[in-house]
Amino acid sequence: MTTPVSYWVAGTARRGAESMPVTHPYDGSPVARAAVASEADVAEAVAAAHTVAEPLARTSAAQRSAALSHVARRLVERGEEVARLITAENGKPLRWARAEAGRAASVFRWAAEEARRFGGEWQRLDTDTQSPGGAAFVGRFPRGPVLGITPFNFPLNLVAHKVAPALAAGAPIIVKPAPATPLSALLLGELLAETELPPGAWSVVPVPNDRMPALVADPLLPVVSFTGSGPVGRSIQEAVPHKHVTLELGGNAAAVVCADWSTPEDLARAAERIAVFANYQAGQSCIAVQRVFADRSVADELTERVVERVAALATGDPREEKTEVGPLIDEDAARRVETWVEEAVGAGARVLTGGYRDGAEYAPTVLTGVPPAARIACEEVFGPVIAIGEVEGDAEAFDRVNDSRFGLQTGVFTHRSDTAFAAFTRLHVGGVVIGDVPSLRAEHVPYGGVKESGVGREGVSAAMADFTEPRVLAFPGMPL
Ligand code: SIN
Repeated sequence: MTTPVSYWVAGTARRGAESMPVTHPYDGSPVARAAVASEADVAEAVAAAHTVAEPLARTSAAQRSAALSHVARRLVERGEEVARLITAENGKPLRWARAEAGRAASVFRWAAEEARRFGGEWQRLDTDTQSPGGAAFVGRFPRGPVLGITPFNFPLNLVAHKVAPALAAGAPIIVKPAPATPLSALLLGELLAETELPPGAWSVVPVPNDRMPALVADPLLPVVSFTGSGPVGRSIQEAVPHKHVTLELGGNAAAVVCADWSTPEDLARAAERIAVFANYQAGQSCIAVQRVFADRSVADELTERVVERVAALATGDPREEKTEVGPLIDEDAARRVETWVEEAVGAGARVLTGGYRDGAEYAPTVLTGVPPAARIACEEVFGPVIAIGEVEGDAEAFDRVNDSRFGLQTGVFTHRSDTAFAAFTRLHVGGVVIGDVPSLRAEHVPYGGVKESGVGREGVSAAMADFTEPRVLAFPGMPL
């Protein structure tokens, strides 16, 4: 049996008595075993995070920035190895795994920069005739150790989006990676262990999900940052209403194609982007295109082009360079997608391409005529399926986008600035992307949703603000 990959407790590598298998989603072959953090080691990690919280908050910005820059540099140096590890544990095609490794390096680079800028601000106190005069300084202080709970779909970058801002803001962090994909987070631990960060500043503790409630409830971890499914996110919020909880949950992202997006070049571009970003990572991204609302004047041509491109996507072994769409995380996930498609077809939808499963793979699929109440339309499919429909004008398109429990991001294909602003003001989402699909995320820009898509925002400086609280130092009467 291979030696299990160590976990990280307060910066040191450990192996407990238990381990769990990590298998390749494409063919089920063994990738590695990951050591499971023992209860005693988790308790030690939490206690160390608590003990280091004050000293870490007082480390210099230069020290934290140097550590974060080091990780960014090492992620680039080891980029190909990191990408291959992501593909092995998650099953996403190498091209997307390379993109993820590059994005994680960018997160750490941004965090290294923001650590230096994170200073607070002056506010005047002489703003009204009855004001005392003087000024106040508003500084930000870490709320305390962060528990970061991360999902399988971006096993490195969604860990980076919690670890890097926490350390940049001077907050210790304990990461609980997804049980199916702990290896990228453990590799990140190797890079963090090369830095001068004090012991306790970070730990990576793979544990099964049934041990998550105890971690969430731990009074020494006042901040919980969770990315994952809605039901789990809501159960966390209900379990610890007194804690500061950030939730990045799901979505059923839409792309709107407006009447003015009508030349053959326009429609070819929209079709290409929709086909690729409905199916990247087999649709397992919260901002993958799931619903398409095309103006009646362009709908037929757009649909034809989308179907042609989706049918041509190269599926198969994610380790091969040519592969565009690999498996889902496991066969159960593919079976769920299969059930939802069958249900939609039973309710009147038509399959224009795809619509079948092979093990953990689900064929890239385009459906039309999906009833709004079908789960493919109103839940988060998290699979390679698009529901494409026709609308009569922008107002109907925006109403259809808003007719959802979720509100993460929307893409609007238009050349018109008035339509762009109408979309920005009318759509109930966390982000609107003009002239492209909703699947855009820049690491430094606020990211998150409204309604059941979540609470709070990530993005390096948004997360730093989230992990800290303001404290006011007032100088009333001080001459300015
Ligand atoms: C997510 O699935 O929420 C993350 C999307 C991304 O980081 O691109």
